[in-house]
Amino acid sequence: MQSVETITALRAQVKAWRDHKYTVAFVPTMGNLHEGHLSLVKKASELADKVVVSIFVNPLQFDDKEDLSAYPRTVKADIQMLSSVGCDVIFTPSVDTMYPKGMTSHTHISVPDMDDKLCGLRRPGHFDGVATVVTKLLNIVQADIAVFGEKDYQQLLLIKHLVRDLNLPIDIVGGPTFRDESGLAMSSRNQYLSEKQRKQAAGLHQTLLAVKQNIERGEQDFSALQQDACNKLKLLGLAAEYVDIRRANDLGQAISGDKDLRILAAVRLGKARLIDNIACHLA
Ligand code: PAJ
Repeated sequence: MQSVETITALRAQVKAWRDHKYTVAFVPTMGNLHEGHLSLVKKASELADKVVVSIFVNPLQFDDKEDLSAYPRTVKADIQMLSSVGCDVIFTPSVDTMYPKGMTSHTHISVPDMDDKLCGLRRPGHFDGVATVVTKLLNIVQADIAVFGEKDYQQLLLIKHLVRDLNLPIDIVGGPTFRDESGLAMSSRNQYLSEKQRKQAAGLHQTLLAVKQNIERGEQDFSALQQDACNKLKLLGLAAEYVDIRRANDLGQAISGDKDLRILAAVRLGKARLIDNIACHLA
């Protein structure tokens, strides 16, 4: 496994693979890797001959400066983890490599209908930051396939949307959310939790499952279900930013009769902001 920091070195490696007719898959990350990230890398290695993983903590997508400086950076451990799961090249560009002229006057990519709902509404500018860096990374790597986690479901749809709109020649593939035994979705932000808070945080997934069960039993008053879930989360000590039942394909407001749904939530617990979501398909 090779580690490269410059765009030129990365492009040279990808070109050498292309010359050998190898296919390439790409997994972008912000590092501090866990089993969830590794599951995407394993999936990528099943889908293509060669795998590139990027580690870049993108300042442009942080709406809170403190969160950016506190974001866990563990590159040495990350490199060790990646060596066992089929990664061929780790790309670790510096902020200067990605934004050589700074970020203020940099071109921004903005995907419509994202800032007015769910995480977009609560984190102004966040999705523009994600869309901008992902567009750059996709253009730098020029892979055939890129793998993103369903854990960040709104982000996954945003990326599919921008790839479609900008005619980027790449397939976007989603990977399922990897959870610990309690059901808590793996996340770099779980590190901000104490042992006791981790147990509390498991209530987030349980609450989403309960909403799903109620919908499957025929409950159609989504707004009552959402409110009830927020109340339950509060009793568990989790401050809900939102619990929302949406159409799975475009995250539009779900209405009675919709069959393909996604139940999404964000909560605050201590220093952490946790997000989770599950699918709900009705017959
Ligand atoms: P990061 O939070 O590091 O996540 C990198 C990828 O791992 C994303 O596609 C995310 O959805 C996925 N992931 C995170 N937790 C997961 C879990 N428990 N199971 C499965 N997949 C999981 O998402 C970002 O970085 C950034 O926004 C990025 C796309 C790299 C742009 O900067």
